[in-house]
Amino acid sequence: MAYFSIQGIQLTSLAKDFGTPLYVYDADKIREKISVLRGSFQGFPLSIKYACKANTNLAILRLMRANNVDLDVVSPQELELGLLAGYEGSQITFTPSGVDFTEIEFAVSKGAMVNLDNLSVLEKFGQAYGSSVPCLIRIKPHVFGGGNSKIMTAHPESKFGISIHQKEEILDIVGRYGMKVAGLHQHTGSDIKDGKTFQQAATALFDFAKDFKDLDIIDLGGGFKVPYSPEDPGVNMQEVGGMMSQAFLDFCAAYGRPLRLWIEPGKFLVSEAGTFLTQATVVKRDPVKTFLGINTGLNHLIRPMMYGSYHYIFNASNANDVEKESYRVVGNICETDTFSFDFEGNQNERALSIVKEGDIIAMANAGAYGFTMASHYNARFLPAEVLIDGGKARIIRVRETMEDLIRNQRD
Ligand code: LLP
Repeated sequence: MAYFSIQGIQLTSLAKDFGTPLYVYDADKIREKISVLRGSFQGFPLSIKYACKANTNLAILRLMRANNVDLDVVSPQELELGLLAGYEGSQITFTPSGVDFTEIEFAVSKGAMVNLDNLSVLEKFGQAYGSSVPCLIRIKPHVFGGGNSKIMTAHPESKFGISIHQKEEILDIVGRYGMKVAGLHQHTGSDIKDGKTFQQAATALFDFAKDFKDLDIIDLGGGFKVPYSPEDPGVNMQEVGGMMSQAFLDFCAAYGRPLRLWIEPGKFLVSEAGTFLTQATVVKRDPVKTFLGINTGLNHLIRPMMYGSYHYIFNASNANDVEKESYRVVGNICETDTFSFDFEGNQNERALSIVKEGDIIAMANAGAYGFTMASHYNARFLPAEVLIDGGKARIIRVRETMEDLIRNQRD
């Protein structure tokens, strides 16, 4: 699974030209994933609403827009980034979680569709807009799905969405204000590959939707698992898409007219397009184990530490696949920040082609929730970002300087 170039450009020369730590994105890979997704849903026009929390670089948003992919945003700032990237407000859905009503008003003022996720905000929306502004309602279907407990969003104890058992309360509010419910939404969680989970959630939503007579949209969320490791394949998109398509067509037939299907993938579109390039700073041969220290940490890629997630790690400076050594790959943050987790979510060692200090150490599947979850912890700069398109590498976020760190501080 190791690779040494992207669109013909060597990873080592990217590291040399742009420095490390560096997030590198392959535009062709993103286009490929968009087309796999479109090809997997059949029988109706599909709207893809990219969940841009996965990666909000303007260049990535522009690439999505150029490929007819709309946006799902979760904050006014993501919404503004979408507008800056050239999106119309009407191409953007705002799916916030428990936000102040002023954020909802802001989204409406920009022409975005708002997805309401609690009864209190539903009531406020009804009071403010009555029948004049259509909305979506986010339902919590009480379904368990997701790679780990932190990224499961549809189970009974999840904070997200209005419980499927509160239909009467919803209908009461909607009726009182004559609200226009354009669509119903649910999002099960992230890192899901089991078709049955998607089916269970969709079935629950379809059953719930029967009592809403003016629907135009069904939004089944995102969560399609990507292959983070060679041993653990991602979702079978063709199979899951085919199954979801059929279930949706059956629902439309029972509902009495065709509706529109929306999905909101984040990871599926951008994760595999991203490679995180770092540099080996120290090979520390301790009596107990050998540590490979790299010039980054949980401040730049927090997924392993936060979720126990597996990222494939390889030595981009050494193609010798035979002679290997086991390393515990660790960051430079003053706190335990191991990158080499195993499938069980434990800190472990990885066999890498022999590493010399200065080698370029790459991590795969870093395009989603990598940069967007990065922080300034330990007062280190954020990584730079590069997009490779048409065989050329272009900087899409320059490396920070000391000025960036102190710009908003007042001494
Ligand atoms: N729609 C909604 C309402 C969501 O909350 C999310 C993700 C998505 C769509 C997209 O899910 P995806 O297709 O990317 O799985 N930081 C975590 C993932 C958090 C996902 C949050 N919500 C990670 O790195 O694994």
